[in-house]
Amino acid sequence: MFTLMRGVSLLFTALTLSAVARADLISEIVTALESAVECGACNAALVPIQALAHLGNNAFVSGFTSICELVGAQDNDVCAGELSRTGPILAHSIRKFSIGGTTSQKFCNAVFGLCQEPSITPFSVPFPSPAPTNPKKWVSKGNAPFQVVQLSDAHIDTQYVVGSNANCTKPICCRTFADSPATTTDPAGPFGNSKCDPPVDLATSMLSAVKQFGGGAKFMIFTGDVEDGDTWLVDQSLVTSDLQSFDSMLASSLNMPVFPSIGNHDAAPVNSFPRNITHTTISSQWVFDTLSAGWERWIGSAAAAQVDTNSGSYAAVPSGTNLRIIAINTLFWYKQNFWLYDTDTQVPDPNGVLAFMVDQLQAAEDAGQRAWIIGHIPAGKSDVFHDQSNYYDQVIQRYKNTIAAQFFGHSHKDQFEIAYSDYTNQNAVTADSISFIAPALTPTSGNPAFKIYDIDPDTYEVMDSKVYFTNISSPTFQNSPTWDLYYSARAAYGPLVNPALQPTDSLNASFWHRLTEVFSTNDTAFFEYNERISRGAGVSACTGTCRTNTICDMRAARAENSCDVVTPGLHFKKRDSTSNNPEVAPDTACGGASVFAKILTALQSNSTAF
Ligand SMILES: *[C@@H]1O[C@H](CO)[C@@H](O)[C@H](O)[C@H]1NC(C)=O
Ligand SMILES: *[C@@H]1O[C@H](CO)[C@@H](O)[C@H](O)[C@H]1NC(C)=O
Ligand SMILES: *[C@@H]1O[C@H](CO)[C@@H](O)[C@H](O)[C@H]1NC(C)=O
Ligand SMILES: *[C@@H]1O[C@H](CO)[C@@H](O)[C@H](O)[C@H]1NC(C)=O
Ligand SMILES: *[C@@H]1O[C@H](CO)[C@@H](O)[C@H](O)[C@H]1NC(C)=O
Ligand SMILES: *[C@@H]1O[C@H](CO)[C@@H](O)[C@H](O)[C@H]1NC(C)=O
Repeated sequence: MFTLMRGVSLLFTALTLSAVARADLISEIVTALESAVECGACNAALVPIQALAHLGNNAFVSGFTSICELVGAQDNDVCAGELSRTGPILAHSIRKFSIGGTTSQKFCNAVFGLCQEPSITPFSVPFPSPAPTNPKKWVSKGNAPFQVVQLSDAHIDTQYVVGSNANCTKPICCRTFADSPATTTDPAGPFGNSKCDPPVDLATSMLSAVKQFGGGAKFMIFTGDVEDGDTWLVDQSLVTSDLQSFDSMLASSLNMPVFPSIGNHDAAPVNSFPRNITHTTISSQWVFDTLSAGWERWIGSAAAAQVDTNSGSYAAVPSGTNLRIIAINTLFWYKQNFWLYDTDTQVPDPNGVLAFMVDQLQAAEDAGQRAWIIGHIPAGKSDVFHDQSNYYDQVIQRYKNTIAAQFFGHSHKDQFEIAYSDYTNQNAVTADSISFIAPALTPTSGNPAFKIYDIDPDTYEVMDSKVYFTNISSPTFQNSPTWDLYYSARAAYGPLVNPALQPTDSLNASFWHRLTEVFSTNDTAFFEYNERISRGAGVSACTGTCRTNTICDMRAARAENSCDVVTPGLHFKKRDSTSNNPEVAPDTACGGASVFAKILTALQSNSTAF
């Protein structure tokens, strides 16, 4: 405490009255956070935090930057860059909510991990018609499947510098930063490093592998996150040019249409998507405009217009199919989108994303089409609000007969989530919708990978899901990455379930539920699944509670059913080796959120120093 007071007063040597007030608030915040271990303590800490926000955005940003620097939560340039971007959004929201209310409890959950989420705010999603009593039957005729490629979480670093220091203390390395050492014992190789987002050359290499293994695919889906992890440096012009380059790269290297969706990194500041009811000069409409222009070549002009007017969501039917792809913006449900805390009123469907889904699913049902949902963040993850996850599940339950599958990314892990008509009675009969979650190109959370699905041309259900990967630890990786089939889900898991999968059976929700039963009893099968999550790199053992929670999370396409436990400071690694549970660690928090949690962790792990 004494050291911090001295540090703070040194920071404000030219003392004005407001600087004194600010210094007092900062030391109050530090004292409150040092001992905060539960929800009540978060409310207590919010009193001086809200007072600081009322002094203005600049006071808030400089106050938290000085705390971040003093406790060494991040390098000083990262503290300053993150807080100058995310700080004003946080200050805006903190000024608007009532401490102790539902929004404030959600905030303490998402930013500090100090509260559990409040109970669901009841809301019934309106539907234009009830579910049909005699729904259309989708039956496989055993016709040869077609292929679809899924890429996700590219995070390409266009400023990657070969030979730069790969072992830095910033969120990503392999770049020349102002404070980079003159020499390094750990130079960045030409194709990437696990502490860095990938160079363009690794993306080029992956696209050659896509052509090699999936050249005949009907189309590709991309489930978001083009921009790399330089969250403390991004601005609108950088993100715009990175989005444009990525679209050009896909268009020039592939001869198949791409159906993309928007990721939380595809904005500046990161995760910044204000609701349309928020009065602010900051808007993310430029992101939707950029994506609309970049995607039009594949999705057509009508869908491109929807991207513009529906905050990034659209629907399109790939030619030669009877399949409606509904691409949604999942970021208005994302806990790290700090705009979502700026009112005590619980807004059930910000920007009408659920209403858009309902319209499109109803249109598919009326037209006798099947539908896929594609998006960035899977609805069951611990970084999705329980409220919106619950409302989303209502939509899935209503249109489960139309929806053949859902596809997401964001976690950087090869995973799946099952939805149920009755979550209190989970079995192969109540299992009724399946979400496939793709691994990432970025090597920060496992070996770089992509998926190729075999799709039944009559039902549009997934017959097989094959993961292709390159091994960054291979001695030849830095000369020329080689890409290989890692595993086929049908070959690996089809024979294990009871009864065994038959040739015309798809990898539907019932199949995946039966597989979770295998994972609870067959140690080898679960061990292999646990390796595959990160494609055999950075694997941590998962037994006991970790295993039961991992299986619980597979059965939780609705976030309130997941077994994730939020703890003070959260865990922020993509695959957290300090946590015994690869699935429970909240996924991919980034930017300002990780700074705030790191401040809390630094204060609490070393409170005597401050
Ligand atoms: C990375 O840096 C840390 C801290 O400076 C050092 O202990 C470690 O040996 C370095 N690792 C490599 C691979 O150079
Ligand atoms: C915001 O979006 C909702 C849902 O689409 C819509 O009903 C509402 O009119 C929009 N409000 C504004 C101010 O644009
Ligand atoms: C999955 O397929 C099996 C076998 O074809 C079928 O019995 C089951 O009802 C299907 N489940 C779902 C959720 O479609
Ligand atoms: C358990 O899984 C392993 C590997 O996936 C498989 O080889 C083995 O036959 C399974 N054991 C049983 C009893 O099904
Ligand atoms: C990757 O390569 C390393 C080094 O050759 C090897 O030890 C490891 O088993 C490989 N991983 C996979 C998943 O093949
Ligand atoms: C605690 O703080 C002291 C003084 O700043 C520092 O030397 C020490 O490394 C810190 N320990 C940990 C575990 O962070």
